Amino acid sequence: MSEFQEKSRVVAVEQLADTFYRLTLSAPQIASSSQPGQFVMAACGPYLDPLLRRPFSVHRRCDTHSIQLLFRVVGRGTELLAAKRPGDVLHLIGPLGRGFDIDDADRVCLVGGGIGIAPLLFLAEELRLSQRTCTVLLGSRTAGELHQLTVEFNALGCEVEVATDDGSAGYHGLVADLLGPCLTGVKRCYACGPTPMMARTAQLCLAGRIPCQVSLEAHMACGLGACLGCTVHGTADRYLHICRQGPVLNAEEVAWNR
Ligand SMILES: Cc1cc2nc3c(=O)[nH]c(=O)nc-3n(C[C@H](O)[C@H](O)[C@H](O)COP(=O)(O)OP(=O)(O)OC[C@H]3O[C@@H](n4cnc5c(N)ncnc54)[C@H](O)[C@@H]3O)c2cc1C
Ligand code: FES
Repeated sequence: MSEFQEKSRVVAVEQLADTFYRLTLSAPQIASSSQPGQFVMAACGPYLDPLLRRPFSVHRRCDTHSIQLLFRVVGRGTELLAAKRPGDVLHLIGPLGRGFDIDDADRVCLVGGGIGIAPLLFLAEELRLSQRTCTVLLGSRTAGELHQLTVEFNALGCEVEVATDDGSAGYHGLVADLLGPCLTGVKRCYACGPTPMMARTAQLCLAGRIPCQVSLEAHMACGLGACLGCTVHGTADRYLHICRQGPVLNAEEVAWNR
């Protein structure tokens, strides 16, 4: 597995919703070796503020030269990213971690909540390249956060259902509530989003004997396996380090009740 330290250039900045932004970055080394579910560590500021790089999923590989990051502004690092302009430099390390497994399942379901939708567009693009039937369930706070992403999943030929917290689009409630009826005939499920959403997805899939992978989040200081700060409880009393053993894990590897 190759990892690169790359000086990327900002190609475009889009504001998709109130706090949702998307950066297109020229990063040929990372673009040519990224797999869906992998992430990069980004030095968000021009100097050492903030000191630590921040982890972001590869949202999309546009071509062999460029990638996109989709992010929600939540603090200093993401504020700096949102203020980037075309031509600016962004130092990246990546691609990092274990991505999603793509097997021969011909019918799959993708479940994304909030900014957890980020890695699923890249995954859907790869799955649709090999003609898999994809149902995509997207949940967010409000319709505006989902509008552009829904268009893009639809354009890939995915069947998309949405849920919003405020009822402004689709089902008024939790995206995981949509999952049960959609699982009929599904051979594999992938999820990324808030922990309760992934836990519910895992539970339903395990009950239906459907292989399920989840992409987990943890605070990361290094992203490289050195600081041991990104720990989650695994089954069999094991600790898992999200940056190396994840961020994508099989649902049954995670101790959801710890
Ligand atoms: C593998 C991985 C992939 C990720 N992919 C994306 C992505 O594609 N898009 C995206 O918007 N975000 C993603 N994140 C989360 C992202 O890294 C954080 O939102 C970012 O580091 C916040 O930086 P900040 O300086 O803006 O906020 P900070 O000032 O560092 O924090 C602001 C608030 O966010 C909380 N926070 C920060 N990082 C995390 C975290 N990892 N988990 C839970 N809460 C956190 C802090 O506790 C604090 O309350 C990912 C995280 C991981 C581990
Ligand atoms: S983030 Fe440092 S070991 Fe995982």
